[in-house]
Order: sequence, then structure tokens, then C-alpha cells
Amino acid sequence: MVKKKLIVGNWKMHNDVAASSVLVHKLSENITASDRAEVVLCPSLIALQPLLKELDRKKFKLGAQNAYFADHGAYTGEVSPTQLKDLVDYVIVGHSERRLIFGENDEMIARKVAAVVRNSMTPILCIGENLTERQDEEMDLVVHDQLSAGLVMLTAAEVANIVVAYEPVWAIGTGEIAKPDQVDQAVKVIRNTVKELYGATTAKQLRVLYGGSVKADHTAGYLKNDELNGFLVGGASLHPTEFAQIVATAAKQ
Ligand code: PGA
Repeated sequence: MVKKKLIVGNWKMHNDVAASSVLVHKLSENITASDRAEVVLCPSLIALQPLLKELDRKKFKLGAQNAYFADHGAYTGEVSPTQLKDLVDYVIVGHSERRLIFGENDEMIARKVAAVVRNSMTPILCIGENLTERQDEEMDLVVHDQLSAGLVMLTAAEVANIVVAYEPVWAIGTGEIAKPDQVDQAVKVIRNTVKELYGATTAKQLRVLYGGSVKADHTAGYLKNDELNGFLVGGASLHPTEFAQIVATAAKQ
């Protein structure tokens, strides 16, 4: 069975509630529902509830950009997966901005992945090497280590249902894109790591995305690799026609 392509828009800390609503309406005008592509929008937390009421659920699902690992408690300023589960289907976990700016480490990320799964949502676990690691030819090592650390609290059946996004740090928000063969290599490391730890069936089932300066022009090139299931899009997800084109191209592959 051919898996639907998965296209996730990470709006980061852009757009207030009103601007988020306008963007959803523009996206809705530009995107047609397709059974070949699943589109997930990850706006700011404050926009999730209002957008849930407005968006066309045949076209879009919602995702959160982060969640804490405890279900409730005295954690000022945090939002728990339990609080999110009626609003979203997906939660991005371990984005490199969370790792680098907010000091999230592998252990926290593993606990967050497990908390999202425990609350019946799908984590999108982000992993990827930085520029120095790429120059030192350590991509394989970094991807293997971040992935195995992030999945450590899950069973094979749970791993089969998660999403892993390969996002080399040097390609995020830089306009610098990973070439298709670099993405192919990382996807191979991801599937081989999962195979080694959780078995061949699990390695085939889990979905793998690429993220890092993705624009409509490059999507077809990446998707020649049918081991890649879609994209995690940052900057371009704020531009309705560009994002719609990414979705349309992915749906055609
Ligand atoms: P970008 O962001 O597409 O703007 O590089 C991707 C991401 O941070 O997920």
C-alpha cells in the first residue's frame, strides 16, 4: 500500500490568532483535499483552539510545536500532552530550535516522545546534524544516536506509528538545502537504525520526513526516493501559494 505523503507546516513563533486565521483561509483556497496527501498545520499554541473550529478537517489536521513530558503539575508556562490531545493529532518534538535555544537534551526528548504517544497523538521527532558534524562526516553517527535516544521509551509497535523528521541544522532557515542524495543517505540511516533496534517491519512502517529550507521547486527531487514520506516545512509554510504547491507536488508523486 502506498502511504499518503505527509506535509507538515511549522509556523514557529509567527502570526497572532487573527493572522493565523487569515493564513488558514488562504491555504484552504489554495489546497484541494487529496487522499494522497495529509496536511498538518502547526501554528502557535494560542491559535490552536480557534483554528480547530474554523479549519476544513477534510484538508487539514493540527499539530503542536512542542509539549512538556508530564501530564499535569506545577510546571509554570508549560503545556502538557494531556491538554493538547483534544486539539491536535501531531506534536513536533525535539526540533533543533528547542534543542539549541531551550536546552532540550535527548533524555527530555525521549520523555516527551513517550508522553505524546501515551496521550494518543503522533510525535514528529526531529533529528539532524549541525554544520560541524556534517563537515566532520558525522551525520550517520548523530542521526543514529539522536534517533535511538529519542525512541528509547517506546515499544516496536509504538515506533511503527511515529514520524521522524530528518532536519540537518545547517539547512534550517538558512536557504541552504540538503541535496537529494544527502537526504537519501540520512533516510537510510534512520530506517537501518530502526531496523536494528525494533525490527524490519517497524522500520518499513514508520514515516520519515525531510525538513530544511524546503520549497516547492525541490519537492519532486526528494520524493524520487519512495522511502521518504514527506516534508516538515518552516518558512515556506507561511506562504499559502508556495505551501500549496509543495502539497500539490507531493500528492502527485
Ligand atoms: P525551514 O524550517 O523550512 O524554514 O528551514 C524547517 C523547520 O525548522 O522545521
